[in-house]
Amino acid sequence: MELRDKVVVVTGGASGIGAGLARRFCEEGVRGLVIADLNSEAAASLAVELGARSHGVDVRDESAIAALVADTEAEFGQIDLFCSNAGILNLDEGDYWATSSPNDVWQRNWEIHVMAHIYAARACLPSMIRRAEGHFLHTVSAAGLLNQPYTAAYATTKHAAIGFAESLAIAHGDDGIKVSCLCPQGVDTAMLGGSDGGAAGLDGILSPAQVAEATVVGLREEQFLILPHEQVQQYHLNKAQNYDRWIGGMRKLRRTMRPPTLP
Ligand SMILES: NC(=O)c1ccc[n+]([C@@H]2O[C@H](COP(=O)([O-])OP(=O)(O)OC[C@H]3O[C@@H](n4cnc5c(N)ncnc54)[C@H](O)[C@@H]3O)[C@@H](O)[C@H]2O)c1
Repeated sequence: MELRDKVVVVTGGASGIGAGLARRFCEEGVRGLVIADLNSEAAASLAVELGARSHGVDVRDESAIAALVADTEAEFGQIDLFCSNAGILNLDEGDYWATSSPNDVWQRNWEIHVMAHIYAARACLPSMIRRAEGHFLHTVSAAGLLNQPYTAAYATTKHAAIGFAESLAIAHGDDGIKVSCLCPQGVDTAMLGGSDGGAAGLDGILSPAQVAEATVVGLREEQFLILPHEQVQQYHLNKAQNYDRWIGGMRKLRRTMRPPTLP
């Protein structure tokens, strides 16, 4: 996809990677940009700076996503690219058992990292299929391909996000629909809060601008996996080639690193 003259929505667009995408998409000359976020004030202020629209939305609320899509289509005629980017990060609680986060944390991760992507696709698909074109960008994480110590709810739901994106691409590729999953390791945003990022930071922490640059290239080349940290490609291959060895390597990694301190 070339972004010039396209209409784009970015959820979680008020800060971090979402704001980086919004800024970079403007440089590409998009015709319409909607910055959607739970933090409606921050979304509005970035929208003023970029000459974009803003929309307060909780992506866990299907009716709010439907309204975001309907309002955008009413104003701009269509949505060419919907970026489901909003996300949260929780460390495993207590003694860092894989089960120790309470159910409400698991539920919130599920709703934001998976159901929100389904709600957006459900709202956008009818008009995209009619036009036989449309692109979904899901900000997932390298943790959705490779897991990550101390963050079971995050890593599990990010894997599920990859699964849904695959289903979307398989079911609707013949309808002209494209899907991309953005899977960085550590990125310097409020989510990491200046920490070393734990396992996510081992190959270096990128800026949102660097991630946005890789995303523009990945969208242009219609890549399913957009990997701003190039090492992730090899790690993913290693996992597929020898799962048992990969689990052993991840256990070793967990033993040698302390849990990151997050904000
Ligand atoms: N920072 C990293 O190291 C990193 C690495 C890999 C993937 N990611 C993913 O990138 C995405 C963006 O994260 P970020 O690092 O920019 O963090 P961030 O905290 O800077 O941005 C997240 C944004 O999502 C918004 N948000 C949270 N819950 C929401 C909800 N229910 N409804 C609407 N908006 C909501 C927040 O208000 C915030 O503006 C997330 O999906 C995250 O999992 C981040």
